[in-house]
Amino acid sequence: MTRVAIVVGSKGRGSNMRAIVSACQDGRLPARVVCVVCPKETPATAFAAAAEIPIVIPDDFGAMSDYRPDLVCLAGYMRLVPHEIVAQYEDRMLNIHPALLPKFGGKGMWGMAVHEAVLAAGERESGCTVHFVSEHYDEGNILLQMKCNVDPAETPESLAAKVLKLEHECYVQAIAMWIRSRSHPE
Ligand code: GRF
Repeated sequence: MTRVAIVVGSKGRGSNMRAIVSACQDGRLPARVVCVVCPKETPATAFAAAAEIPIVIPDDFGAMSDYRPDLVCLAGYMRLVPHEIVAQYEDRMLNIHPALLPKFGGKGMWGMAVHEAVLAAGERESGCTVHFVSEHYDEGNILLQMKCNVDPAETPESLAAKVLKLEHECYVQAIAMWIRSRSHPE
């Protein structure tokens, strides 16, 4: 079983976290969520507590490491991860972004701002990206992307909802790919 730590943000929606937890619980992923890390108590940590998943509050990466995760998944975490932690989890730390990187990434590109920028640029498609975490926002190697159309009547809100649904599928698939690549290295 691959040991997964999930790091969520202080906004605390935690929908990607829930998608990963449920894929572990129903056997779609040969993995176990060993802890959920969050800057503060949120609905996401309440969910984790109810699922009997250990919680690390605040976002103390040293305390996270005590749970010996093989893979760390950032999901809605807005802060930069300290560089020694990025180094410790090289090729073992993923993030999800609600656009097709390298477009529409970087500092300030989060939440509705991303979808507004996609629409303002007249893009015909958008989607999400799971990438490895580096020391810069949204710049690590891309593991998996999924795309959707941007419809003529699209609003930032409708696009956000469409992309979020895709994110849940994309993150689970990306984790499955990562696990497979580890069990059958080239
Ligand atoms: C997602 O849109 C993700 O791409 C971004 O932050 C959001 C987190 O949403 N990094 P949720 O907390 O998983 O619902």
